[in-house]
Amino acid sequence: MTNHCDLVIFGATGDLALRKLLPALYRSYSEKSLSGDFKIHLTCRSNSQKDSYLTKLKDSLQEHLSENEFCSETWLQFKKRLFPIQLDIENEKHDWQQLEQRLDNRRERIFYLSIAPSLYALCCRQLARFKLINRHSRVVLEKPIGYNQTSAEEINSEVGKYFNEKQIFRIDHYLGKETVQNLMILRFSNLLFENMWDRKSIDHIQISIGETVGLEGRAGFYNDAGAMRDMVQNHLLQLLCLIAMEPPNEFSGDNIRTEKIKVLKALRPVSVDSIRQETIRGQYVSGQLADNLVPGYLEELKKPQSFCETFVAIRTFVDNWRWSGVPFYLRTGKRLKQRCAEISVQFKPVSHQLFSSQAGISQPNRLIIRLQPEERIQLSITSKKLNKAETQLKQELLDLNLNDNSTSLQSDAYKRLLLDVIANDPSLFIHREEIDTAWRWVDPIIEGWRKDNYQPELYRAGSWGPESSDRLLANDGRYWHNPDE
Ligand code: BG6
Repeated sequence: MTNHCDLVIFGATGDLALRKLLPALYRSYSEKSLSGDFKIHLTCRSNSQKDSYLTKLKDSLQEHLSENEFCSETWLQFKKRLFPIQLDIENEKHDWQQLEQRLDNRRERIFYLSIAPSLYALCCRQLARFKLINRHSRVVLEKPIGYNQTSAEEINSEVGKYFNEKQIFRIDHYLGKETVQNLMILRFSNLLFENMWDRKSIDHIQISIGETVGLEGRAGFYNDAGAMRDMVQNHLLQLLCLIAMEPPNEFSGDNIRTEKIKVLKALRPVSVDSIRQETIRGQYVSGQLADNLVPGYLEELKKPQSFCETFVAIRTFVDNWRWSGVPFYLRTGKRLKQRCAEISVQFKPVSHQLFSSQAGISQPNRLIIRLQPEERIQLSITSKKLNKAETQLKQELLDLNLNDNSTSLQSDAYKRLLLDVIANDPSLFIHREEIDTAWRWVDPIIEGWRKDNYQPELYRAGSWGPESSDRLLANDGRYWHNPDE
C-alpha cells in the first residue's frame, strides 16, 4: 500500500502508543504494508519528553515486538519517518501553530487521539481552531468513548461538530483480530453453519474473555470503569453482534454496522428485579497464578476498599425471530486462570439417541472459535471408536489451528486497523449509533447494581471467577467451557 499521509498521534508517550500503536506501525513498515510518503508526528507534552522520545521508543519496540522482529537497519529507516513534537493540547497558540507548519496540505491527515476521552472534544476544537482539519482528514478515537450513554453522546456530538461521521474512526481493537473477521467468513461462507445458525439447532452461546493480567498500572482508570465498561460495553458486545447478526446484504461497513445495531437493539434489558439472577460481579483476591502468588485487587490498587468489579458474567437474550429463547452467556475477568478469548456455540442434542446406552451417549456438537491465545476453530463431533467389535461412541475434535497456516506476516489487530484508517476503509470501525445503543443496554445494569447495593463477590486470582458465575449456568443445567478442561 502506498500512503501519502501525515499521521499525528496525540498522546504518543502513553502506554497505548508505545505498546501497541508504534509497534504496529513499525511492523507494517517492515512488512512493506506501509510505504510511500508518510510521516508520523508524535506529540509529547514537554520538551524533555520530546528530546528523549526516540530513544524511549526504540527500547519499547525492542520490548514489545516479537523475538527477532526488531532490526536495527529497519529501525534506522523507520526513524526517518518519525517526528516527535512538543504539544500541549491546552496550549493556546504556539504548539498548534508549530504542528500546522509541519503538515503538508497535499497529503491526507489522520489524527489519532490516544489521550483521555475527556480531552477528545478539546483536541478536536483546537484542530479546527488552528485550521488543521482539511477535506481529507480523519480522526481516530480510542475506547472508552464515554463513561455512560450521556457522556458518550456528548463526546460524539462534540467531535461531530468538526468531523462528519465518515471521517470518524472509532476503534475497538477486537474487530482487528483475525479470528473475529474470520467469524463472518465462517458464518456466511459455509452452508453447513448457515442452516444451523438459529434457535432450532443452537442450545446456547458462550462468549468469554479471560485475562491473567491485573491492573497493569491503570488503577485510576480501571477503578472508575470496572470490567463492565472496560470490556463488556465494547469487546464482548461486539463479538455478540457478529455472532448473532443477520447476514448483511453486502460485505460493506455500512451494511455490517446496520445489522450489528439491530442485534444491540434486540438485547433484552436486565431489570433491577432480576439483576442478581442475570448478572454476576466479582473482584479478585490474592492467589496462585501459574507459578506466582499474585496480589489481590485491593493490594494492587493500594486502597482498603473498592466495589469495582474485575469480573462480570451475564446471561442475556437476543429477542428476535432467530434467537428467541437462546441464552447468550458473557464472561470476562482479570487474573483468571488462563488468558483466553473464545466463543463457544453449543448445539442441541440429536433428536433421538439411536445407539444403545452401552455404546455411550452422543454428545451435542460444540463449535469453538478461539481468538486467543492462539487462533483456532474447533468442532466437536461424535464418532466410533475404531477396531472395537461392539459399537462405542467417542468424542473427537476437528481442530483447525489457523496459526499453522499463517504466512510470515504477523497478525496484529492494531496493525490491521491502522492500515484500514490509512486506506480510509471504515468497515471494522464502530458507528456512533452502536456506541449509543450499547450504552443504553449497559447503563441500566450498572445502575441496577448501584440501586441493589450489589457488591462484587470475591474470587481467587488463578481461578475461573466467583462461584456464583458457575451457578449462573448450573441453574440452567449448563456449565462454562473452560479451555483447560
Ligand atoms: C482493553 C482493555 O480494551 O483490552 C484492557 O482496556 C484489556 O483492560 C485489553 O486488558 C484486552 O485486550 P487483548 O487484546 O489483550 O485481549
